[in-house]
Amino acid sequence: MKKMLHLILLILSAFSGAALAGGNFNQDFVITWGEGRAKILDDGKLLTLSLDKASGSGFRSKKQYLFGKIDMQIKLVAGNSAGTVTTYYLSSLGSNHDEIDFEFLGNLTGEPYILHTNVFAQGKGNREQQFYLWFDPTKDFHTYSILWNPLGIIFSVDGTPIRHFKNHESKGISYPQNQPMWIFSSLWDAEDWATRGGLVKTDWTQAPFTASYKNFNALACTSASGSCSNNSSANSWFSQSLDNPGIERIKWVQKNYMIYNYCTDAKRFPSGFPPECSII
Ligand SMILES: *[C@@H]1O[C@H](CO)[C@@H](O)[C@H](O)[C@H]1NC(C)=O
Ligand SMILES: *[C@@H]1O[C@H](CO)[C@@H](O)[C@H](O)[C@H]1NC(C)=O
Ligand SMILES: *[C@@H]1O[C@H](CO)[C@@H](O)[C@H](O)[C@H]1NC(C)=O
Repeated sequence: MKKMLHLILLILSAFSGAALAGGNFNQDFVITWGEGRAKILDDGKLLTLSLDKASGSGFRSKKQYLFGKIDMQIKLVAGNSAGTVTTYYLSSLGSNHDEIDFEFLGNLTGEPYILHTNVFAQGKGNREQQFYLWFDPTKDFHTYSILWNPLGIIFSVDGTPIRHFKNHESKGISYPQNQPMWIFSSLWDAEDWATRGGLVKTDWTQAPFTASYKNFNALACTSASGSCSNNSSANSWFSQSLDNPGIERIKWVQKNYMIYNYCTDAKRFPSGFPPECSII
């Protein structure tokens, strides 16, 4: 009987080990900023960042990635989050850095967050696109994904692609593909510009502000080992691009939820749009 119990416990622990393997914050991330305000909870299954009048907080991945399909579930600051910014991005750092950005700009209770995106290659960004979301991102966790491979970068929300930045390096447009990147996230105060261009300030009576993270999952190549979690199955993430339903979904999002696109901002580019704008 006792042996049987041990066996069952052993099997159970083997299963929970497997379930955790996809994402354990203790194993995959380090808190880099605002220690005390950032917390890893629930045996590494949950991470929370908070912001108070003193400062914000942040974390980064232990590993660097060179291409990957990276998912994170995030629940954003609820209530009056005006002035706060939650960032979630990949970056190689340095002056010629590559970077793939999600940033969530808070708002007054009931008013929409803005999801801001950008892509930097070799230090050059200025490729902002912004969106409203089709749900309240503070009520529940939602999955924010970056698929980054040699063909392109696809930003997705709950599996719906919202932005596609193709690799046009062969046409002279630099593309992030040589510099490994870390995953970063932070929660900080940006009341000078975040909400309606700085018109709405942070309400510190609502502090601390908290954002939560869970179910991190990366199918990726890590630079350190050069090893990849891709394999020879035909639809592996490494060679994935947008299929026809994906193209239809992205059109739906861009038609109904896109509120800013650098490729249509003529005032900003009086002498012509960046080259990728005309070959997308
Ligand atoms: C906040 O709400 C206002 C009013 O609905 C809207 O114009 C703005 O885009 C929203 N988001 C941010 C981050 O300012
Ligand atoms: C290929 O990768 C997928 C996704 O990680 C995994 O489920 C599958 O077991 C892998 N196949 C092989 C043969 O390694
Ligand atoms: C897996 O990734 C490596 C890049 O590090 C690439 O050379 C290889 O072709 C990939 N394999 C597949 C099946 O996509």
